[in-house]
Amino acid sequence: MAIPTTTREYRLPKYDGYHNLTIKEATLPPPKANEVLVKIIAVSLQYRDLMVSKGQYPLGHKDNVVPGSDMAGEIIAVGADVAGFKKGDRVCANFALDHVYGDVNEQIKNTGLGAPIDGVLTEYRNFPAHSLVHIPAHLSYVEASTLPCAALTAYNALNGPTPLKAGDTVLVQGTGGVSIFALQLAKASGATVIATSSSDAKLKVAKELGADHLINYKQTPDWEKEVLRITEGRGVDHVVEVGGPGTLMKSLASVRYAGWVHVIGFVAGAGDTSNAPVVALSKAAMIRGILIGSRDQFEAMNRLIVANKLKPIVDKVFSFEEAQEAYAYLESQKHVGKVVIKVAKD
Ligand SMILES: NC(=O)c1ccc[n+]([C@@H]2O[C@H](COP(=O)([O-])OP(=O)(O)OC[C@H]3O[C@@H](n4cnc5c(N)ncnc54)[C@H](OP(=O)(O)O)[C@@H]3O)[C@@H](O)[C@H]2O)c1
Ligand SMILES: *[C@@H]1O[C@H](CO)[C@@H](O)[C@H](O)[C@H]1NC(C)=O
Repeated sequence: MAIPTTTREYRLPKYDGYHNLTIKEATLPPPKANEVLVKIIAVSLQYRDLMVSKGQYPLGHKDNVVPGSDMAGEIIAVGADVAGFKKGDRVCANFALDHVYGDVNEQIKNTGLGAPIDGVLTEYRNFPAHSLVHIPAHLSYVEASTLPCAALTAYNALNGPTPLKAGDTVLVQGTGGVSIFALQLAKASGATVIATSSSDAKLKVAKELGADHLINYKQTPDWEKEVLRITEGRGVDHVVEVGGPGTLMKSLASVRYAGWVHVIGFVAGAGDTSNAPVVALSKAAMIRGILIGSRDQFEAMNRLIVANKLKPIVDKVFSFEEAQEAYAYLESQKHVGKVVIKVAKD
């Protein structure tokens, strides 16, 4: 097969919302010596993609971006200097292309797909070989497309300076992409998991995935007291904090002395966090910002996924032409786990 010279890609000519997503045809250069050309088969969506589409992403974006950070696809051509990948390989790209290992920095942050640089909501794309990982054999392309952002963020949260150990207790908030992966990875690592959600039906899914304790935060707005009751006053070792200012004080109330609050997102909206420094110091608690993770961590996570035959939870799959519907479904928060766009047939 001759390699394609054009690709159909989505762009955001205006940051008014995802109704401005537009399909364009673009020329596709051949891969450079260090690059790999990937036929993109599935793309998963993040809360971030909603914010980018509205111009509300706090980390900024380029003009007229190709959105989307997370893809799984098949290699159809490799550049002359590429080692370790070949035609036919099934791959994912890391969220920040240049985050290979170690700490993030500004230069690396600016290689995040689908905001500072063009992303993956396109049929074909060249990637630097150093950004790629092989997909675990037991996962489909749709399943693998959920790993780069949501799963790796959860993995990074649980495997920081004080990695999760068997017997620890982890609190996950809501049943979105990051939180469901945090639940699965924590259970696979031998932890006890407390899951919260707005919905009893969603909590049932969390229970099926192994959550040990369930709290409906609509029915129990003082859920931090329930967390302390469940942990007999000790608090949890790790909080996977996706709520932001709206939940941070409750997360600090829920964490044990010298435990970790991994600050990831802000789905819960506004809140008064002015007392956070006092609570953090009075409990010697650690508040740690997370910015996805490195390719090195991605490979380590894949080993954990393979060892436990973990399957990502995919709520709904949309076609390439239905991208706007997929964004709308993610925004509705009816989902548990991940929403995926199937770009091409396997
Ligand atoms: N820093 C990073 O590296 C990084 C990486 C990935 C994501 N993020 C951020 O993490 C957050 C989650 O991302 P995502 O892609 O997993 O989002 P998502 O799949 O869209 O998750 C949305 C879910 O959050 C839950 N939720 C909403 N309000 C809540 C509240 N007040 N308290 C607790 N849960 C609430 C809801 O679940 P229920 O109905 O079950 O409550 C909702 O379905 C976002 O803010 C995103 O930007 C950051
Ligand atoms: C963005 O969407 C609005 C509403 O559908 C439309 O009026 C406008 O022309 C669109 N702009 C671009 C640049 O696509």
